[in-house]
Amino acid sequence: MASISFRNINKIYAGNIPVIRDVNLDIADGELCVFVGPSGCGKSTLLRMVAGLEDITSGDLLIDGKQVNKLPPSARGIAMVFQSYALYPHMTVARNMGFALRLAHTAKAAIDGSVDKAARILQVEHLLERKPKELSGGQRQRVAIGRAIVREPGVFLFDEPLSNLDAGLRVQTRIEIARLQRKLGKASMIYVTHDQVEAMTLADKIVLLNTGDATHRYGSIAQVGSPLELYHRPRNLFAAGFIGSPKMNLIPGELVSATPTRAEVRIETGELLVAELDATRLQPGAKVTLGVRPEHIVPDAHGLQALHRQVMWTERLGESTFIYLEQACSADALIAKAKGDQPVPCGATVALGIPPGACHLFDEAGQALPRPCHDLAKLKLPWLQGATDPLQAKVA
Ligand SMILES: Nc1ncnc2c1ncn2[C@@H]1O[C@H](COP(=O)(O)OP(=O)(O)O)[C@@H](O)[C@H]1O
Ligand SMILES: [Mg+2]
Repeated sequence: MASISFRNINKIYAGNIPVIRDVNLDIADGELCVFVGPSGCGKSTLLRMVAGLEDITSGDLLIDGKQVNKLPPSARGIAMVFQSYALYPHMTVARNMGFALRLAHTAKAAIDGSVDKAARILQVEHLLERKPKELSGGQRQRVAIGRAIVREPGVFLFDEPLSNLDAGLRVQTRIEIARLQRKLGKASMIYVTHDQVEAMTLADKIVLLNTGDATHRYGSIAQVGSPLELYHRPRNLFAAGFIGSPKMNLIPGELVSATPTRAEVRIETGELLVAELDATRLQPGAKVTLGVRPEHIVPDAHGLQALHRQVMWTERLGESTFIYLEQACSADALIAKAKGDQPVPCGATVALGIPPGACHLFDEAGQALPRPCHDLAKLKLPWLQGATDPLQAKVA
């Protein structure tokens, strides 16, 4: 176990290409931290700087409080698992897993003991004498993880380790990695992925990175927090749009009035919507974006503030139905999530209930207005019962 700190970390690649801008971040001992963001935002670059495979242009990288900027990879107490497992094809599973220890001249009995222990944890004991070509993709990835485990690192680094696996295996291996962290006595892990579902399901802490805009093309942190914090309190439009599928509906409008608990917004169609949040730092007339997640819209609402819209299209997934609705002004359709068996004829006009407590609001610069805390208490998710802080809770 080890803590990792980034202090004003910048990375400029040769040719004066700025890639990482001013990253400040603390990863605690034993934490499973996920770096997530669109392709090209600098996730791998950050991870490779921790590993020592990439120079740090400026700033300090600390492992357990010690600056390690110039320390070679082998002296950092880390082990890395890549997307491509890169096993040695001519070696058995056991020899692949013990390779780093043989390089370090560890005694044979100790190597065998470590390999056996890792094989047990990963349930590959029956595969130890096979060659990589005799394994499935999932088994190979487990061997690659085993190779990292035998080194007993303080920090595990994973760079999109599941991208080469098919959908079913990805879910299974994802659960195995989360359980592995517990079995290993909570080793510290940094896990890189572009997949927000992987980030949500695995992370203690999510670090969401943005690629920047047209003028500033470098990765920077958009938000850091627990999965539920990012879901319920996205700090900006980027975070709001990145976490959640289908994406949060974002409707342009302007602020009409604001109290500490209630904001009235005239959306682009001229309709008025109330959001239960504090927009008092803005002036009436300020340009805003109102956000509401598809799963929080109540189709066929009675007694709720509602938008009346025509159904353009539906997608039936069995357990739920996505309803795409006409938007008078914006190019994007509004999306609502309904029950799987709800009748929603195309062309019909439906009343979409917009619960004021479910609304998000963003200012012209895309920064979120603060939402009250009490909506988390309203969640009543069974697995949150008894948890001391619902935002920190994670499925066991
Ligand atoms: N060796 C390199 N030299 C120059 N630019 C690079 C190099 N490696 C990566 N980049 C650029 O840095 C940015 C971030 O890359 P990367 O860290 O691989 O992103 P991610 O892992 O988030 O997809 C990209 O724009 C990429 O083209
Ligand atoms: Mg990458």
